Amino acid sequence: MKTILITGGAGFIGSAFTRYIYQNYPGYNIIVVDALTYAGTVDNLPVKNWQLQDERFSFWYGNVLNGELMDTLISQSDMVVHFAAESHVTRSIYDNTQFFQTDVLGTQIVANAVCKYKDRLERFVHISTSEVYGTAECDHMGEEHPLNPLSPYAAAKCGADRLVYSYYATYDIPAVIVRPFNNYGPRQHLEKVIPRFITSVILGEELRVHGNGQSARDFIHVDDTCRAVDAILHAPSEKVVGEVFNLGSGQHRTILSLAEDITGLMCSSDNCYIHVGDRPGQVMRHTADASKIERVLGFTPKVKWEEGLARTVEWYKNNESWWRKQLWMREIPIVTASGKRELH
Ligand SMILES: NC(=O)c1ccc[n+]([C@@H]2O[C@H](COP(=O)([O-])OP(=O)(O)OC[C@H]3O[C@@H](n4cnc5c(N)ncnc54)[C@H](O)[C@@H]3O)[C@@H](O)[C@H]2O)c1
Repeated sequence: MKTILITGGAGFIGSAFTRYIYQNYPGYNIIVVDALTYAGTVDNLPVKNWQLQDERFSFWYGNVLNGELMDTLISQSDMVVHFAAESHVTRSIYDNTQFFQTDVLGTQIVANAVCKYKDRLERFVHISTSEVYGTAECDHMGEEHPLNPLSPYAAAKCGADRLVYSYYATYDIPAVIVRPFNNYGPRQHLEKVIPRFITSVILGEELRVHGNGQSARDFIHVDDTCRAVDAILHAPSEKVVGEVFNLGSGQHRTILSLAEDITGLMCSSDNCYIHVGDRPGQVMRHTADASKIERVLGFTPKVKWEEGLARTVEWYKNNESWWRKQLWMREIPIVTASGKRELH
């Protein structure tokens, strides 16, 4: 019986991964630790609230900045997957303190505990992000693309990414660094663009587009991210430890085309767009070169954009009670690139 510790397991991707492991590995003990910030909720977990401590699943309401707690939980684990982070780019422009605390120092504390128990740990998967690259300097961004983080969120995640690598190089921890491109799917917070557009259509609102809407991202469905992390966790260590893997589709979509796909899918003809100023530190384009994970582990994403988006739309249509309470958090006041104070 293996024990897997999942940090940030009550958030969007962490909870999808927790539910995935719960369903696909009945022989595993799962420990989730999550500080339940505004972005996390126990409603995302695979068990009901009154079952949060059962035989194979335990939930710890706690902070990755708590070294003693991390020591206790990691001392009982065979594998660690570290998702916990402050994750919203715009919020990091508004107030970045928590980003550097959780994303950098929190990762240091998790990595210190990993170091202490490295002899019993099989794997430590650190979830980084494609944001560490900044705007694409070539058609497809491979793992060797320069690191040019453009927002405080990206800089904090970049610090964490290199911190984990340095611990691998210096202390020989069994670390693997994963850089997912933009994830989408059910249970993503309304502050992120796809849920914001979908719920705006449901509510009959205008869709708020940053700049001219031509900035472009590479989207991967969260189910594919879960499958990829599973493949990394269970691969022979000589194939993955000390490595960095991109996770993406290899295609980019502009934010405007994304809005059009969503309104088209939801048969909404009367939504209009309001254009607000561009986000300072905007990444203009991200397109993954995800050939390394395909070459090393045979992994390719399975969920097609049209199918993944349609499933995501259905989920938001059917789960209004889950997202209604987040409506007030969709807008954040920031000073835009042109110096104007705007809600983003
Ligand atoms: N969503 C994306 O598109 C995307 C893309 C690439 C990488 N990532 C990375 O994937 C990871 C998960 O992202 P997400 O979208 O699920 O984020 P999320 O904001 O939905 O979830 C983050 C979770 O971490 C928890 N958390 C925050 N601070 C904590 C702390 N100090 N201690 C313990 N728990 C804490 C929150 O309560 C929440 O449950 C993050 O590391 C993020 O940087 C996300």
